[in-house]
Amino acid sequence: MPERTQSLTAGKLSADDLAAALAPRSSSPTGKSLSVTGLRKSYGGTTVVDGVDMEIAAGEFVTFLGSSGSGKTTTLMMLAGFTEPDSGTVSVDGRDITGLNPGKRDFGFVFQQYLLFPHMTVEENVAFPLQLRGVSKAEIRRRVGETLQAAGLSKFAGRKPRELSGGQQQRVALCRVLVYRPPIVLMDEPLGALDKKLRDQMQTEIKTIQRELGLTVVYVTHDQEEALVLSDRIAIMKDGRIEQFDTPRGLFEHPRTPFVADFLGAANFLNGKVEEPAADGCTRVRLDTGGVLTAREHPCVPGQRVRAAVRPGKLRLVSAEEGCCTGTVETAVYVGSLTRISVRLDGAAPGTPPLRIETAVAPPRVGERVCVTAEREDVSVFDATDGG
Ligand SMILES: Nc1ncnc2c1ncn2[C@@H]1O[C@H](COP(=O)(O)OP(=O)(O)OP(=O)(O)O)[C@@H](O)[C@H]1O
Ligand SMILES: [Mg+2]
Repeated sequence: MPERTQSLTAGKLSADDLAAALAPRSSSPTGKSLSVTGLRKSYGGTTVVDGVDMEIAAGEFVTFLGSSGSGKTTTLMMLAGFTEPDSGTVSVDGRDITGLNPGKRDFGFVFQQYLLFPHMTVEENVAFPLQLRGVSKAEIRRRVGETLQAAGLSKFAGRKPRELSGGQQQRVALCRVLVYRPPIVLMDEPLGALDKKLRDQMQTEIKTIQRELGLTVVYVTHDQEEALVLSDRIAIMKDGRIEQFDTPRGLFEHPRTPFVADFLGAANFLNGKVEEPAADGCTRVRLDTGGVLTAREHPCVPGQRVRAAVRPGKLRLVSAEEGCCTGTVETAVYVGSLTRISVRLDGAAPGTPPLRIETAVAPPRVGERVCVTAEREDVSVFDATDGG
């Protein structure tokens, strides 16, 4: 099927075909729920996973996102059963599987290294999990044929992995998992080795297949954009702990820690003190640099030292307005759809970084005096001693 391969390289996706080929006969979701409680792991006295709890619904796409060494792979390996947790439980559809070995869990795994069997052809690689499950020869031929065709790999069926490109090998690895329709698929940076264009295509394919088949996917990446594109919910990991487990929108709009606010999309932090409560229930923060920022809801007490956080795209430039923060534009860089500017606030202590602002409308010039404010929905407030 050369057209299919061409259609992929031309940017048209075969995901619908693949999903249709693999779709179960019934319309009920094939995914299963996954429940994790108190998962811990130490190596040589160093705790690398420190109490992970999460409930993942059947058919949900969940991603662990975090910097290198934050414990993502270790957590996934404990879900998979390849690494034994020091404590904690893993349950599937309410059944405790913590002690079960990986082969008995019926999870599918896709790893960063494709881990194809080098001595087997593409077809044999994809047939392998079905053989393990004792599926009949005729049924194996049919399902492998359908899956390879839908993934645009039919014409490579007789090749060995070393005769394929990285992207083709990764598609084989994906087919080898999807061919037996596991209810839960675990993926550890499966697209890490691909170039940007192929990565984008594969993300769309993975997402479409997952949705069509109702698979539960637990995915690991350190790429923010990838996490946002794919996930229903994202678990932000730091030092072996989940900082926040939430929808992409929830993480962006209501970060619960300064780390999350800064990690996902960057934030400006402004120090200040909470004012007396107002009748509207909002928290008003009098900034050390002068000016006031208002946050809609936050359990802060009057007089408390806090850090207010606002994303660069949420700071607004206004003509002088009650309570706004005044400053001078230091840099202004046009980057296409918007202009990135930095503003030195009046009264900012030496060494304080300037405010980062992104604006699409009428950007000011370097040296211009500006007033800055933010909508109350866009301001988060954290205790001043809260790290991150
Ligand atoms: N088998 C092991 N023995 C000792 N230390 C380990 C072992 N496996 C992982 N670690 C350590 O545990 C920590 C977490 O590792 P892990 O592989 O889970 O991180 P990660 O979040 O997947 O990082 P990356 O993004 O780099 O893949 C790291 O500091 C790592 O060095
Ligand atoms: Mg890892």
